[in-house]
Amino acid sequence: EEKGFIFDLDGVIVDTAKFHFLAWKKAAAEFNFELTHQQNEQLKGVSRVDSLKKILNWANAEVSQEKFDELAANKNADYLTYVDKMTAADILPGIKEILAEIKKEGYPIALGSASKNAPKILQKVGIMDLFDVIVDGNSVTKAKPNPEVFLIAAEKINVAPNNCIVFEDAEAGIEAANTAGMISIGLGNEQNLKEADYNFSSFTEITFNFLKTLQPK
Ligand code: G6P
Ligand code: MG
Repeated sequence: EEKGFIFDLDGVIVDTAKFHFLAWKKAAAEFNFELTHQQNEQLKGVSRVDSLKKILNWANAEVSQEKFDELAANKNADYLTYVDKMTAADILPGIKEILAEIKKEGYPIALGSASKNAPKILQKVGIMDLFDVIVDGNSVTKAKPNPEVFLIAAEKINVAPNNCIVFEDAEAGIEAANTAGMISIGLGNEQNLKEADYNFSSFTEITFNFLKTLQPK
């Protein structure tokens, strides 16, 4: 049975989570709401529209559809000013090495991200060609924690879900991977990722040998 590897983007491959936070903070300030760090944790892995809905809910704020669309568009424009400055230096430590090793051993690599900006970011940091398949916010209808994004990725790389290994930094993403029946690896804040099968603080702590020994769920 062949393995397949599925990577989330934001917060796993690149540290864009901090840019999303800055941009959402600014958007929320427009309706006088101060977004906290802990609330932001709950936005990780969540689509743009669903994120804004959550923030408005926390703020007890209601806006017209027109205003909603404007807030989402402004947030994205603001976010893209950070993205435009990204280079290969923004790739998180250890990622390139692990991607290269997986590739060298001939295993398929997929991206499973909720972001509509995923292709742009991969291009900016120069690692687009390492991915066999890209499933992003442009091709899914159901946002994480729904497993759709990962199940589509597994199908496209032709690997059974229980042989797929998912790397995630978001609670919603770990839940999606688990629901899909995949092996889930949490990166970063272990407190928020208790449901993950394995936890690591960074890719520099993950060896390819460890990944190779993982057994199907
Ligand atoms: C990722 C991030 C979320 C973001 C979502 C949509 O899942 O973790 O913070 O809201 O993508 O990103 P987008 O770039 O399409 O606004
Ligand atoms: Mg993420």
